[in-house]
Amino acid sequence: MSANRKKFYLTTPIYYVNARPHIGHAYTTIVADVLARRHRLLGDDTFFLTGTDEHGQKIERSAAVAGIAPQQFADQVSIQFRNLWDRMGLTYDRYIRTTDAKHKRGAQKLFADLYERGQIYLSSYTGQYSVGEEIFVEGPPGTIGPDGKPTETVTEENFFFRLSEYQRPLLDLIESDTLAITPEARKNEVLSFLRGNVVEGRAAGLEIENSNAGAPYVKGALRDLSVSRSSFTWGIPVPEPAASATDKKHVMYVWLDALANYMTAIGYGSDDPKDITEFNHYWPADVHIMAKEITRQHCIYWPAFLLAADLPLPKAVTAHGWLLFDNSKMSKSKGNIVRTETILDAFGDEVYGKQFPDSTKAERDLFASDVLRYFLLREIPFGQDGSFSFDALITRYNADLANGYGNLVSRTLNMIGQFCDARIPQPENTEFPSDFSDTWNLILQNEDELESFDFASGLNRAARKIAALDGLLTSNAPWKLAKSDSNDDIRFLQQFLYAVADSIRVITAQLYPILPSTTAKVWKQFGFEKSIEQAAADGELNNLQRGGLKPGTKLGPLAPIFPRADKGLVQIMTDMENPTPTETRPEAPLKAAATPAPAQPVPTDSTHPAAAPRTSSLGEPSGSLPVGGSGSTTTHNGPTPSHTDAPASGPFASVASQTPITAGPADAAPTITIDDFAKIELRVAQILVAERIPKADKLLRLEVDLGHEKRQILSGIAEWYTPEDLIGRRIVVITNLAPRKMRGLESHGMLLAASEGEGGKPVLATFGEEIALGSRLK
Ligand code: ME8
Ligand code: MG
Repeated sequence: MSANRKKFYLTTPIYYVNARPHIGHAYTTIVADVLARRHRLLGDDTFFLTGTDEHGQKIERSAAVAGIAPQQFADQVSIQFRNLWDRMGLTYDRYIRTTDAKHKRGAQKLFADLYERGQIYLSSYTGQYSVGEEIFVEGPPGTIGPDGKPTETVTEENFFFRLSEYQRPLLDLIESDTLAITPEARKNEVLSFLRGNVVEGRAAGLEIENSNAGAPYVKGALRDLSVSRSSFTWGIPVPEPAASATDKKHVMYVWLDALANYMTAIGYGSDDPKDITEFNHYWPADVHIMAKEITRQHCIYWPAFLLAADLPLPKAVTAHGWLLFDNSKMSKSKGNIVRTETILDAFGDEVYGKQFPDSTKAERDLFASDVLRYFLLREIPFGQDGSFSFDALITRYNADLANGYGNLVSRTLNMIGQFCDARIPQPENTEFPSDFSDTWNLILQNEDELESFDFASGLNRAARKIAALDGLLTSNAPWKLAKSDSNDDIRFLQQFLYAVADSIRVITAQLYPILPSTTAKVWKQFGFEKSIEQAAADGELNNLQRGGLKPGTKLGPLAPIFPRADKGLVQIMTDMENPTPTETRPEAPLKAAATPAPAQPVPTDSTHPAAAPRTSSLGEPSGSLPVGGSGSTTTHNGPTPSHTDAPASGPFASVASQTPITAGPADAAPTITIDDFAKIELRVAQILVAERIPKADKLLRLEVDLGHEKRQILSGIAEWYTPEDLIGRRIVVITNLAPRKMRGLESHGMLLAASEGEGGKPVLATFGEEIALGSRLK
């Protein structure tokens, strides 16, 4: 902390520990790391916070499924996030966990303070709760929530926060950019949620008012927010004096708990004078970074809590888009994820490790981390969704890093090695050759793209700088000059190579926040004694000028920085994400009664979209595709629905099933061979979750545990079994049926049941003795 430097406090979301990290989480944390490095090199007193969000029903359930205590579960997953950030060399200044004692105290202090100020009151509420997203949703029981799963009806006595009182103050603060929300599209979404539906409101005779900026809004469109839960226990207990107002034991709403992390991490709620000083120094946050699905919590709930507690508001909220995989948002709950570890291992071991067999794992990780950083920031215009593919990763790597920057650095330094005795050349004067002027002007263009999150433009410009230098190398052909007998040519060679090298130095300094590990190596090859990181800290990567290389300096040992990647890496990474590729599918010979049997043989095509690479996720159903949902699903905060706020480009495209879901008849069976039978994989499973599906009378949505994996199966047994009948039962599942969609939900597998005659009640096959989950029937 220093008085005369500008402070810059930035945060990522704290990630839920319901499953392991994927490259979506890495993306946000990389963005924050780039910004932190950029602000450090500008001389700002920078503080970068990340961590994990560990309370709530979702985590409690994931832990239950994993069969361990929630704290133990959270410990196991939180450390995976932290270890990954460390492998990647991310420079967070603090890692907060919401199960930290200090955080719990701070969050309770905020709650108690709001209660004492009359901003929180006790009331009763019945509504639809989406456990996956931990929010209340509008609609009838069984509405499909934003996570694609049916909501649960929750009737609870709750503490409520007087969010409704902050509609107008929030509108004024956001419209005036006092709380700056970027990109613009996100700001507009938040504003339209705050304003309510003015057209309908007017028609319905509701009260319409104008904000300071003159924009109309429906008065009362923002409802009070439930900020406690009492039906489960995994959370921070509501503190006194609120706790004594009720006999029930309440825990804090997970979002109130979680948002408070941004203050508790830097000392809020502590009595220690050091903590108090730190909090006063760094708060408010300069920017909260996240993806777009949680802007409402950050731009409405969070500033309202702070206004109510009379605390300063964050200055800015910035939301990027989603990384998509298989055209749908990469998500832990859906299982369509790519793990960052795959990229670190594949690029680190296969590309860097092959070139440098003696390298350490840490060196390989940092190399690969640079590759991923570059790819994500170059490829995805900030704010937009971007599809991830291994193929694009390798193509971009080879084009921009191996052939572009890497090749330029090697070419130039090798020529200096050969023609200049491996010393920075001695130019006659500091003037650059005349054909340099355009390139040099381009190179000096400042890099505030990094501060404004416009990484793709900054890197696009970097690529143009590199191409321009390549062009100059080609047109001046220093290798020809080196053979010349003319002293003028040799003098020009020195002058020219100095100019190219000094230009590369500037580009390298500019790329440092994006490629911290690789630029550090280039820095060493230039012969600098001070590391690039230290140079950044000392303010030497700022205000870059011509002439920063000292003539005569001996180059460091040269080595390629970005060895070319083979296209075969695509398959390697795909296999790493998909360790047990499914074998060929059976011809669907079974038509068990009462389970949804396809009218046609199931697809045997191994390129079926559902067979795309994905990984299991800890404690959550895996292997399931994005599920369909209702695009008109709306979320709200409190007792009475007020208006809709479905995002225009929501992730939940509804997929209607064309497949009949009636049971097939029990045909007289033709004879089969034992080999035919062996094609059918039957395994023991346990039903973990059973739920009705809205508007589908016959179907139940089940989540079953197969021991080594969990699956979602839709089964047409709703007429005969209630969900309660089923939960916990051990059953038999046909596991190698191709996945398919019904009602927009994926069903992967089929239950085995017998029924007496056509249309008779199906009776599920089960076991009379103990048998381990996943055991195969044969
Ligand atoms: O929402 N593409 O945690 P979370 C891009 N605990 N970014 C993605 C992504 C994707 N497909 N998937 C996840 C929570 N992210 C709360 C936050 S903050 C007080 C509490 C990133 O584990 C992105 O930053 O669901 C997104 O906002 C965040 O992870 C959500 O992580
Ligand atoms: Mg999420």
